[in-house]
Amino acid sequence: MKKRVIALIVSASAMFLHADEGERLFKAYCWGCHHQTAEAFGPSFRTIASKRDRSEIIAQIVNPKGMYKILGYSRNSMPAFDDLKPNELEALADYIMKFKDAK
Ligand code: HEC
Repeated sequence: MKKRVIALIVSASAMFLHADEGERLFKAYCWGCHHQTAEAFGPSFRTIASKRDRSEIIAQIVNPKGMYKILGYSRNSMPAFDDLKPNELEALADYIMKFKDAK
């Protein structure tokens, strides 16, 4: 019983850390061009979350030159973030998807 409670607490805090990590990465790397719900230089995370899935989002982050046409853009102005780790990309994708129904 005790073990299960501890396991629950550990996995819950891992989830919170993961969400915080997405927000931290967003502020460090994306905030200049993307905002959560307002359009900026790039589309808002709300707009992105409403029309893309996680794999399209991750593909654009690591390889925008290979993705922008597929996503319907006529030019690529976003730099590639190809040194982010897989877990950081997952955290960013989770963070972006949170804005799907954001007001
Ligand atoms: C220098 C400005 C800039 C930065 C920094 C930037 N982006 Fe972008 N982003 C853009 C622009 C402009 C586009 C439109 C397509 C293009 O230029 O390739 C875009 C497109 C996107 C798209 C696809 C949009 C769609 O239609 O679905 C995603 C996803 C995305 N960015 C995520 C991110 C994430 C996550 C970060 C941070 C790791 C980031 N971007 C950092 C400018 C930027």
